Amino acid sequence: MIDHIRKLILEAKRKADAESGSNVEPQFAQKIDWPVTCTVGPGLEGAIACESAVGYVNGSAGKLIYRGYDVFDLCAYSTFEEVTYLLLHGELPTEEELDNFKAELCRRRHVPRTLRQLMSNPIEEMNDMAALRLGVDFLRRTHSKVDTIEARPRSETAISSDEDSIPMEKAPYGEKKAIYEFTKNALGPNKPVDLATCYDLIAAMPTIVAAVHRIKAGKLPIEPHPDLGHAANFLYMIRGEKPSLLEEKVMDVALILHADHGMNASTFATMVVASTLSDIYFSIGAGIAALNGPLHGGANEAAIKALQEIGHKDNVRAWLDGKLARKEKIPGFGHRVYKAYDPRARILGPLAKELAKEHPECRTLTETAEVLEEEMVRRFGESKGIFPNVDFYSGLVYMTMGLDHHLFTPIFAVSRVAGWTARTIEYLENNRIFRPRAVYTGSFDKKYKPLAER
Ligand code: SDX
Repeated sequence: MIDHIRKLILEAKRKADAESGSNVEPQFAQKIDWPVTCTVGPGLEGAIACESAVGYVNGSAGKLIYRGYDVFDLCAYSTFEEVTYLLLHGELPTEEELDNFKAELCRRRHVPRTLRQLMSNPIEEMNDMAALRLGVDFLRRTHSKVDTIEARPRSETAISSDEDSIPMEKAPYGEKKAIYEFTKNALGPNKPVDLATCYDLIAAMPTIVAAVHRIKAGKLPIEPHPDLGHAANFLYMIRGEKPSLLEEKVMDVALILHADHGMNASTFATMVVASTLSDIYFSIGAGIAALNGPLHGGANEAAIKALQEIGHKDNVRAWLDGKLARKEKIPGFGHRVYKAYDPRARILGPLAKELAKEHPECRTLTETAEVLEEEMVRRFGESKGIFPNVDFYSGLVYMTMGLDHHLFTPIFAVSRVAGWTARTIEYLENNRIFRPRAVYTGSFDKKYKPLAER
């Protein structure tokens, strides 16, 4: 079965290479001599926020790379644990390093105090991402001393200035003295993030997500199983039974595919909070909040709802005409960076179709998805660079595994916490508080009018 999934993934890679050229050089991958000039659009489109060696998204070629490795190869041959280690440490682990890392994750999956605190709250009334964030806040209090005075970062070592002293009237010219900057060791022992904290979050978030799901269904949480890997354990804690080999491999691939994706909104939100030297738990809370939005993490739920609304592949064209006539966006399509086929959709699509063979109840949805994809790519692929993105098939994959739609976005967070933490650790090595500009378009010199005169 694993070989069969590997063949599907490598077939998808061959197709992607054939359509985009396998050795497409990165458009923009080099050391930067700051300050750098770039063309910036609304929403910081095109803005270069920092350098990173964690991952690279080549939007024109439809390529995704983690620390130099093509995501197709990682899905075919690696595991989420190994990929998480790679993202955090920069190199694939040796066997001993991987065994130690897995043991660390296994130990940190048990968060009984956090679950007890969660269960004393009205979880059943909460949005799943709100409940996840609450769980991460409880984790923060249990697993760290960040609220104690002695744990605060040593801000006296900061080369600090009021960042507003950067002359806003002129284009930024990398003015050195107004940098809110910490040199490598200035963070001292009380770093707002360290590897142990990242391991805690990566290990415990699946436990929290699974517990929230079961509490909302009126069931008790299930303790992590010591013999299961990350993906299998996650499914086990959700459903109370060990997954099949196929389900374990598919969930593992899905977690690998969602682990990192450049400076997306939730990663950027995480890093902005971390750049103030707030602690990593708050930073991850910001990432969870950003991912909750339907334009970002919530699109896979919306994509499933759209397929259910269409009902049958014969209805696709009429449905699509209506949506487009109302200028509504089709969930699961389009991307700020990819103007080619999202490589993650290239892998999740065949996996969804493979799983649908064992789940006839999902076959109609999968057939509808295929026709919708053909129709959208025919109409907007070449003309507007609109193709399926990761969210178009991820919901179908989870649905064929019997996972409820309110789990879809939390699953995204369970995976993306690897990229969030890896990029935060990397950025804090040469921290600079994020502080872009807003061009003022308001009035000047207005005279104050007393209330009676207004
Ligand atoms: C994720 O950044 C990341 O890396 C994110 C992510 C990650 O891994 O972290 O990849 C995960 O967020 C995937 C995207 C999930 N969201 C959706 O599927 C929601 C639907 N997609 C759209 O909202 C949209 O495509 C965005 C928000 C994803 C990207 O939008 P852009 O780049 O800002 O593009 P745009 O809104 O400026 O649209 C450009 C044109 C417009 O047409 P015109 O006005 O020029 O005629 O393309 C059209 C848009 O109307 N368009 C779409 C469309 N997406 C863009 N038209 C119909 N359906 C769509 N989905």
